[in-house]
Amino acid sequence: MITTCIFDAYGTLFDVTSAARAVANEEKHITFAKHWVKVANTWRSKQLQYTWLRTIMNQYSDFWQVTKDGLDFALEESGIQSSELRERLLALYWKLSAYPEVQGLLSNLKSNGYNTGILSNGSPDMLDSAVNSAGLNDVLDAVLSVDNIGIYKPSKHVYQMVLDNFKCSAEQILFVSSNSWDVAGSTKFGFQTLWVNRNSEPPDRLDARPRWTAKNLVSIPTLLKDLA
Ligand code: LAC
Repeated sequence: MITTCIFDAYGTLFDVTSAARAVANEEKHITFAKHWVKVANTWRSKQLQYTWLRTIMNQYSDFWQVTKDGLDFALEESGIQSSELRERLLALYWKLSAYPEVQGLLSNLKSNGYNTGILSNGSPDMLDSAVNSAGLNDVLDAVLSVDNIGIYKPSKHVYQMVLDNFKCSAEQILFVSSNSWDVAGSTKFGFQTLWVNRNSEPPDRLDARPRWTAKNLVSIPTLLKDLA
């Protein structure tokens, strides 16, 4: 029986493209409008690559550092040199928009007796800031950061943090992520998994497929009710 719903943060609860999109709409940064999609995509993929590479190299730096490094790569690739623009993009990363269904979903889960939490690569201060700015403090029981163990997802040691925190077994966890590779890692670990595939991407070829796939988070209460 599922007792606990755990969410990835970036891309699952919080829209990682919202920083670059917002800056592209600012009068002052009008020339960024033609670059923002490429910058946002490269920023995200380099940020993630650096987490995996640093884990393999045994050279952990926290998620804020790899976020800045990913952005610096993306800006240089697009020939952008403005340090003012860089600072603006980084500042917005601390208050990314939550997807519209997030607040209602987490409230619903809490009122139906489920434990709720975040398990994220994000550093504790980044996650605190995102959770605060989206007003999610009261609907989350735990915000777990890989920073406590210095290894990134999809290491099994990261997923183990959930069991240690909630004192439960893997099959009691519904783990929700928009990252197919995170879903593969957590499925292998033994969680029941939902892949939020907002952009209709093909699944990663990593030997484990999610139990459920959905376009967004809206169907989660129904899914849980059907299981109960
Ligand atoms: C996280 C990244 C992987 O929040 O989205 O852990």
